[in-house]
Amino acid sequence: MLAFRIATQINSRSLRTFRLAPTASANITSRAMSTLFQSIKEDHEEMYEYHDQYKRARERGDVDAQARWARQLTWEIARHAVGEEIVVYPLMEKHLGDKGRELADHDRREHQSVKERLYKLESLQPGSEEYDKLITVVMESLHHHNDDEEIKDLPLLEPAIGEKASKEAAQSFKKTKKLVPTRTHPSIPDRPPFETLLGLLEAPIDKIKDWFAAFPTEDEMKEAKEELKFRDHDAAAGRAAAGSR
Ligand SMILES: [Fe+2]
Ligand SMILES: [Fe+2]
Repeated sequence: MLAFRIATQINSRSLRTFRLAPTASANITSRAMSTLFQSIKEDHEEMYEYHDQYKRARERGDVDAQARWARQLTWEIARHAVGEEIVVYPLMEKHLGDKGRELADHDRREHQSVKERLYKLESLQPGSEEYDKLITVVMESLHHHNDDEEIKDLPLLEPAIGEKASKEAAQSFKKTKKLVPTRTHPSIPDRPPFETLLGLLEAPIDKIKDWFAAFPTEDEMKEAKEELKFRDHDAAAGRAAAGSR
């Protein structure tokens, strides 16, 4: 519990002290009644936005900005993945029978692969070809994975649990995301409750301050948030177009 308290205290202090303004935390109130689908999709759009920002930084040769956006992206993916593993996939298993278990297992395997790649990314040099290639691979696999969630998983789950439960699940998902560590931990079991507890216990607490300081600046985040307002990736249409080629 001590480690949990320390992690929570440092996280909340860091939120006040540093430039951290990641993700849509400021909009949580306005999105309080989002459905699960909406909440998950909003996160997916954030990932794409941060990746676009990273690519732009690469195009203009700004290595520091590449590193900041890659961290922002990693942070968002890690929290999102853990939130799904704790809140969404168990719901699929509970309410969708064998099909739900099959989809959840498939999704967990894909998360594991993304986590391992992101973990490797931390050992590479931002700005290098290897670093950029790995991010490209991560985003390609993630795009496919996210589209599957939007096309297959959630359209099955939401009618099965109903709108009220979907909104409650969306709230649980957001709360869970706030508790997860800033880095991925591929060695940690990806089933609840281990991910949250072990993740927090293993979070690099002594480095959290530096870690937060290396996130995108407020101005950079502001620009990304503006662009996010106009993002609306249609997974089903994209998949259909790809299939017709
Ligand atoms: Fe996922
Ligand atoms: Fe997702």
